[in-house]
Amino acid sequence: MPLPKAELHLHIEGTLEPELAFELAARNGVALPYADTDELRKAYQFEDLQSFLNLYYELMAVLRTERDFEDLANAYLARAAAQGVRHAEIFFDPQAHLARGVGMGTVVDGLWRALGGSEAEHGISTRLILCFLRDESAESALETLEAAKPYLDRITGVGLDSAEVGHPPVKFREVYEAAAALGLRRVAHAGEEGPPEYITEALDVLGVERVDHGLRCMEDPALVERLVRERIPLTLCPLSNVRLRTVDVLADHPLPAMLDAGLLCTVNSDDPAYFGGYAGDNFDAVGAALGLGEERLRELARNSFVASFLEDDEERRAR
Ligand code: HPA
Ligand code: ZN
Repeated sequence: MPLPKAELHLHIEGTLEPELAFELAARNGVALPYADTDELRKAYQFEDLQSFLNLYYELMAVLRTERDFEDLANAYLARAAAQGVRHAEIFFDPQAHLARGVGMGTVVDGLWRALGGSEAEHGISTRLILCFLRDESAESALETLEAAKPYLDRITGVGLDSAEVGHPPVKFREVYEAAAALGLRRVAHAGEEGPPEYITEALDVLGVERVDHGLRCMEDPALVERLVRERIPLTLCPLSNVRLRTVDVLADHPLPAMLDAGLLCTVNSDDPAYFGGYAGDNFDAVGAALGLGEERLRELARNSFVASFLEDDEERRAR
């Protein structure tokens, strides 16, 4: 039996497996510039975050209808359930869909067709987190939040993703203030490729409660001390770090040092269709490559519920 765990860093568009991409392409009459799934898989060689994002945005062209988003989410939930995921806080990137003429309603209603039945169907409770694309403008983020207002009963929080370097958190001060005023929870990717200062800024300027990745905090001992003191969770994604070359090989991953430092670390899959593994695969991989024993893996699974947006009583039931 896989350890019961919560997944807190998962881009639903990053769960699009090659087989489903081709199925949706055929259903929607969308031409993909790859002959078949083998040829597509060969394109999964990334130099850095941007080279991955190029393919990630290209393949989204197949997602067009509510049913597509429902099928995408159901495929993820089935795989996650098999790997012990009991609770998932799921990112989505509405700007990438709005730019293709796919409306906020299509995305949220489609995802909700799967998420609404997830506890009964897959044994997984869920939350939705709307992410702003940090390489788009601050105005576009504000327009996106405005477009999300009719759907806020199904959206728990906001996040910040896409190309990090050159797009510091401060650029999104206004939209995070507006999100907070609407009662939304706040997270942001920071310190994946960007410097430790972006982590500090995400905390101080955006008021985030949790940092996505946050790996580069290890370059700043005072920041590590603060993250420990304030019990700020980090949502690490080890297989993603290797595939995007943030870390050379998994055996060099700083996760053990981060746990030793007292950081509240969680292990997640990020974009599992692209990075070679779902949540349980990430747990297995760090266990094997970093020599983490049963106790440490249990600690990571426990942390995932502590760091979640589940209320205390719900958290106990999910475990
Ligand atoms: N980092 C930043 N943006 C993203 C990622 C990521 O790992 N995955 C999807 N969008
Ligand atoms: Zn991510």
